[in-house]
Amino acid sequence: MEINRNTIIKDLIESHPETLAVFKKYNLVIAGGVRGPNEPIAFFAKAHEVNYDILVQELNEAIAKGGGEAVEIPTLEEDKIYEKFVKTAIILTLTVGVTFGAIILSYIAVKLNFNSIYYSFIQAHGHAQIFGWVGLCIMGFALYIIPRVKNTELRHRNLTNICYGFIISGLVLRTILQPAPHHAFRFLVLISAICEIVAICLFAFIILQTIFASKEKPGIFDKFFKAGIIWLLISTLINFGMTLHLYKHDVLEIPKFIFSPFVHLYLFGFVFMFIFAINIRTVFAFLDIKPVREKAVNLTFWVLNISIPIYFIAHVLAHRSIIALRFSQGIVFPIAFALFSFIYGLRIFERSTKELQDVVMDRSYAKTIRTAYLWLIVTAVILLIMPFLGYDSDIQHRFHGSLNHAVTVGFITMMIIGYASKMIPTFKGIDMYSLRLSNMTFILLNTGCFLRVFSQILVGINGKPLFYAVMGASGWIELAALSIFGYNLWKTMNITQEVKSPAVGKLTEITKDTKVFDIVEQYPETLQVFLDFGFSQMANPVMRKTMGKVASVEMATKMHNVDIEKFLHVLNDKINSKK
Ligand code: HEM
Repeated sequence: MEINRNTIIKDLIESHPETLAVFKKYNLVIAGGVRGPNEPIAFFAKAHEVNYDILVQELNEAIAKGGGEAVEIPTLEEDKIYEKFVKTAIILTLTVGVTFGAIILSYIAVKLNFNSIYYSFIQAHGHAQIFGWVGLCIMGFALYIIPRVKNTELRHRNLTNICYGFIISGLVLRTILQPAPHHAFRFLVLISAICEIVAICLFAFIILQTIFASKEKPGIFDKFFKAGIIWLLISTLINFGMTLHLYKHDVLEIPKFIFSPFVHLYLFGFVFMFIFAINIRTVFAFLDIKPVREKAVNLTFWVLNISIPIYFIAHVLAHRSIIALRFSQGIVFPIAFALFSFIYGLRIFERSTKELQDVVMDRSYAKTIRTAYLWLIVTAVILLIMPFLGYDSDIQHRFHGSLNHAVTVGFITMMIIGYASKMIPTFKGIDMYSLRLSNMTFILLNTGCFLRVFSQILVGINGKPLFYAVMGASGWIELAALSIFGYNLWKTMNITQEVKSPAVGKLTEITKDTKVFDIVEQYPETLQVFLDFGFSQMANPVMRKTMGKVASVEMATKMHNVDIEKFLHVLNDKINSKK
């Protein structure tokens, strides 16, 4: 098989399993399921910062050698650690998240009044979205991606199920019980926050243990992951404090002057740090652009992490102290600066290097990732306008709601969709279920988000019923977009792939080209012959089902320096003795 820049790795592995050792050496088979990455070699080399020419030279040498003395052939397994987190996030956002949000929005639109709905419902929606939709997606992806970018094994994998159990219990209890006026059950709201603390401490422990166990030289993205974990832990403690307030004072709503800045601390702290870390590590290859400008990215890190606590404290105290109010108005400038500095550092809108222009691959996710950063610019602009609107005025509340939507749907949800559409097929070594559905999601979500963000601003400026109506409709367009995405991704996650093997008829004679799997499959008694000749791996059924389907007798005997003639003779004796 002649290797070129568009050679798909899993096809090469299929026809030349001896190349697996080379891919393993360069840590290139860390994703892709049982058959290996469904990616062109040139792209993978760029994404993993491996020199393409040296890689191809080594692959050709391995093929020429045909495996030779006992080359270790790793087993490829599909790691589904992310799946339950991502699937649950989809269920949550399509129920208590976006659907509930769309109903709330329609109700507000019909009533032409934002204060017509109990704020506890909005907070339940908000909590389900930020900890459920966004939180679970990031946790699932992080558990899969971080060990791979750190070239190590995930530590304490057995704890991830416990983490999952606790976070789901906490989320369900909180979302259902916060708006419910049944005082007898209020203690369960507190229990919900304790469940979330346990889950998030477990997640933080697993991720930090994995990062610290890595022998890789720390990359610029490392500190973003670590800062993100710290902000997640801080958010969870604040969340506990807020539920304590609900329980102690027997109320359904958390005061807005605490809840709203808390939402931003969680988003700017935990969510932005994780998204920025993964973008720094992957966007240059995904968009075929130059690597990041480290100075600009580092500046973002420090300015943002210093500004976030000031932002939170100043906003919580703004209604009580003019100094705090001025700080809350002034701090948005360094935060906006940090966001623009990151966009400049990431080169997200810069021309492609054209290094991969000859590489044939699906790039539909690229527009989604770039559009997400357009929405981040919209977020930064609204943030900069906020201090000039009367503090606590109606128009400021409307702009605040638009800012929230531009950042949660425009930037974060768009980024989740862009990365999920790229990464999950990569994790599995397959293509996305439907590119047409991906494009429909892109168009509908941007349309819905645009209508929401700008109609809500117009509602703030002059409150015309028309703008309320457009706003009310936008939620259903976004629901359609996320439902299509959920369906498309769910179908993709459910695709299982077996190592392809051509159907073979009844074997009457074993030759050098016969696949070892077919021999044992049709004549199980030959397994002992394999073991007698030293093919110990054949004892492992997974090994037989995977490598056995691609390895011929010739390949196997070459790998294990076994006399092929003698081996074939004994095997054929065995199967003929049965007749
Ligand atoms: C995509 C469809 C969505 C719809 C229709 C929707 C609807 C709403 C509505 C009507 C409000 C109350 C009005 C306002 O504050 O502007 C609201 C608030 C909120 N939403 Fe959503 N939302 C959606 C998506 C999201 C997402 C994806 C997230 C988070 C990841 C989110 C998090 C929040 C939060 C935290 C609040 C409360 C903000 C505050 O009070 O400070 N929403 N949403």
